Amino acid sequence: MSRPFYVTTPIYYVNDVPHLGSAYTTIAADALRRFHALRGEDARMLTGTDEHGLKIEREAKERGTTPTALVDDVSAKFREAWPHLGIEADDFVRTTEPRHKAFVQDLWTTIEKNGDLYEGAYEDWYCVGCESYKTEKDLLPGNVCPLHPNKGAVERLKEQTYFFRLSKYEKKLLELYAKRPGFIEPASRRNEVISFVEGGLRDLSVSRTSFSWGIPVPGRPEHIMFVWFDALANYRSVLGHGELTRYWPPKGKAIHLVGKDILRQHAVYWPAFLLAAGYGEEALPTQVYAHGFLTVDGQKMSKSLRNAVDPLRLARELGSDVLRYHLLRAIAFGQDGDFEHAALLERYNADLGKNLGNLLSRTLGLCAKNTGGLVPARGELGPLEIELETVAREKSRESAEAWEAIAPHRALEATWEISSAANTYVDRAAPWAEVKKGDTARLGTILGTLLAVLETISRMIWPVMPTKSAELRQQLGLAPLTLAQGTDHWPAAATALPVGHPLAPTGSLFPTYDKDATKALLEKLVPKVVTAQQPTDTATTTTTTTTATPPTTTTATTTTTTTATTTPVEITYDQFSAVDLRVGIVLTCEKVPKKDKLLKLSVDLGEAAPRQIVAGLALTFQPEQLVGRRVVVVANLAPRDFGKGLVSHGMLLATGPSEALTLATAADVAPGARLK
Ligand code: ME8
Ligand code: MG
Repeated sequence: MSRPFYVTTPIYYVNDVPHLGSAYTTIAADALRRFHALRGEDARMLTGTDEHGLKIEREAKERGTTPTALVDDVSAKFREAWPHLGIEADDFVRTTEPRHKAFVQDLWTTIEKNGDLYEGAYEDWYCVGCESYKTEKDLLPGNVCPLHPNKGAVERLKEQTYFFRLSKYEKKLLELYAKRPGFIEPASRRNEVISFVEGGLRDLSVSRTSFSWGIPVPGRPEHIMFVWFDALANYRSVLGHGELTRYWPPKGKAIHLVGKDILRQHAVYWPAFLLAAGYGEEALPTQVYAHGFLTVDGQKMSKSLRNAVDPLRLARELGSDVLRYHLLRAIAFGQDGDFEHAALLERYNADLGKNLGNLLSRTLGLCAKNTGGLVPARGELGPLEIELETVAREKSRESAEAWEAIAPHRALEATWEISSAANTYVDRAAPWAEVKKGDTARLGTILGTLLAVLETISRMIWPVMPTKSAELRQQLGLAPLTLAQGTDHWPAAATALPVGHPLAPTGSLFPTYDKDATKALLEKLVPKVVTAQQPTDTATTTTTTTTATPPTTTTATTTTTTTATTTPVEITYDQFSAVDLRVGIVLTCEKVPKKDKLLKLSVDLGEAAPRQIVAGLALTFQPEQLVGRRVVVVANLAPRDFGKGLVSHGMLLATGPSEALTLATAADVAPGARLK
């Protein structure tokens, strides 16, 4: 029986769409799963969505929709997005599914029976962004959460709650970390967790009575479980009985890949919950691996920037394999890193185009001219061949070791060292000289060796570049890899292809971009705009302008109306068409308490749920005047937060002074129609 391997990603909150950050973790998990599958293991991957909690309940309210409609809509977006990035998870968990709920309630009941849950009253600060209580020392001046400064001051909450006896597990956890140093990786993060636990653990409030969107406590339905209690259990809840005994320790190997932001929950709470439910130390996950955080072109990924750097768009433009390669190669897994658009294209040209792509085309070109496009026979290998094959063997072993250690950047580096060595080999072996001399035997040895090395590389890139692996193999006249459990497909050494086998060159594997093409592509990919309007809470919304942002010249009704006489800058058609203008119908409209200029509208844009839009219309219109009106909406503007949970998801177009506005409209068109 093949070895079981189980890798998970965090389950993502459905208040956001898939972005480069969530794509990063999910791509890494998929590549790791593929590496283990390539080794012949029974490799399984889980991802999914985290759908409960106050954050989601509020998000739904802000969007003027129900939690159920919101979670169904956004969860589907995640599920549909991943295959476009080459990700093939074996299961997709939603915390609103009955299979998950039933498990979580059982887990609760077991822990309660074991005496580790008790009732009490709790009062402290609560950050909705983290969905966690915070003590004073966790907060920045002004009671702001360091992880969510743009949400303003955290809230004071006081309520009846169940506590989990986390304090009881302080010693056991420290023993666990000492006994199993690999439980938390990388080491620097392990030390952070250890000092946190050494600092003392307080019992954890694990139920809330102040909201209802979540899993009820068995027998006490007014208590809703703390969303992390619910969410962490996903890794176990979706394993059926057979899968459990197969994939979960002690028999299986379970790796949780997470970002560093949620390491504490995974390395402290999760094992404590499991220990409390009677899991032995051997039945805890094998490892929690916390990777670093990405910035984009040097900027922190604020929500607006996240929306602007769409991984699906990058994949459409360059191919998902290229995006996967860059993310896993350019950033040392475990450390923070910058996703730089220009570096992506540079790396594409250098590593992919000029290195591997060139190796393939020069080899196939020589074969087409000199061996009739067939795999030649190899004669006796000389020192150069032996040297290259030694590099291939050693780097293949190094690469596999790096994958085992969850270091994809090193695994890829080792792979590319083979490609570089092969290019150097071509120059040194000088096959063209053998052509001139008419030494076909020696030429056959050289080209046969290159083909063998290319075949090796086609296997080694498969975890990260499954599509390009298949294309490369196709050009070598080979079928894509088909994996079989129990068979190791990782190349231990370069193996010669069958002599006389027809090659099938079809052109450049990675056509390079010249200077102009690179410039044009960068222009297209690098987000230009981001938030033209600053939200009212200024704490972190660092605006992310990489090139000049055109001044706002519309009489945007959400800005304090300025006169519309600023000279507009010239924009390209692409810039214009990036603005999603849509016709909407106002469904409801009301005044915003204490804001005399603002009205809060829900607008039908032909989407699954109406949008909430907040606009400075109140000096001109009574709310009831607007209901039923057709309006023109900028539908892809970054959401604007007016504070206190009031968020606008779009902007209406209008002209005139604030007290005498005229709304832009479009007669007799269905809601959702696009203006262009
Ligand atoms: O925390 N760089 O969900 P979430 C790298 N539902 N990775 C990033 C990133 C960035 N800039 N931004 C986000 C939650 N991520 C919980 C998890 S698990 C039981 C519950 C990735 O939607 C990274 O993996 O906020 C991070 O841990 C995760 O998205 C947070 O996703
Ligand atoms: Mg988060």
